[in-house]
Amino acid sequence: MISRRVLFLGAPGAGKGTQAQRICAEDSLAHLSTGDLLRAAVKAGTDAGKRAQSAMESGGLVQDDILFDVLFDRLSEVSDAFVLDGFPRNLSQAEELADRLNRSNLSLDVVIDLDVPEEALIRRLTGRRICKLCGSNFHQEWAPTAVEGVCDHCGGDTYQRADDDEATARHRLSVYQKETEPLKRYYEGLGLLVTVNGDQSIDRVTNDIREVLLGEVSGESKHG
Ligand code: AP5
Ligand code: MG
Repeated sequence: MISRRVLFLGAPGAGKGTQAQRICAEDSLAHLSTGDLLRAAVKAGTDAGKRAQSAMESGGLVQDDILFDVLFDRLSEVSDAFVLDGFPRNLSQAEELADRLNRSNLSLDVVIDLDVPEEALIRRLTGRRICKLCGSNFHQEWAPTAVEGVCDHCGGDTYQRADDDEATARHRLSVYQKETEPLKRYYEGLGLLVTVNGDQSIDRVTNDIREVLLGEVSGESKHG
């Protein structure tokens, strides 16, 4: 594996979490999902969680300082090999990330943008179900659990994320377009951006990402 400091861009529902779990399990990279870190903080009732909760429920962005609190301690532990999923989401977060890595003489190897059309994103989000115990992802339409509401892997209860109803999902997409999409140009300018077609089977997307990480596809290109 050539690329070991990897960032996944991509709209809500693009498959960042699904793909990061697979890639990290196979290649011993740490998976850092800011959405997961924030949901854990909300569940644990920490100060950061209390401050993040309302923005998350409405589908808006959580304040930068809260993100820096929940993310950078974890990142410093694994800064040599990671996939960042859901961070950065605006220019100030991108600049802070570059700065923190720079202080350790590190930089990103590649930024992968998972490209999926909007209506497919809405179907993915509104049908998604997640296991409360093991975090496995299911989809009501095309990857349902064998028994409704029960995880196939561990028997835990599955649930729908509070921000996956259609209205909130559409709001998240508009926040993404306004705040996060401009980062594509930022990373393109740094020669780091590779676009992968995320509108394929999960296996094919994983294969395309692996080719990028192996250095078979270089920056500023479209793949898949
Ligand atoms: P976060 O949890 O990061 O949510 P998100 O970016 O909206 O992305 P999702 O997790 O919904 O989608 P995903 O791309 O991971 O897709 P997945 O693989 O699950 O953030 C939540 C909230 O936290 C934000 O709204 C914000 O409030 C806050 N937050 C987080 N980071 C922040 C930051 N940096 N700054 C400020 N605030 C922040 O897939 C989705 C579904 O599709 C699943 O059912 C899956 O099985 C299915 N699927 C995946 N791939 C495929 C495929 N190829 N074909 C068919 N189905 C597929
Ligand atoms: Mg996710």
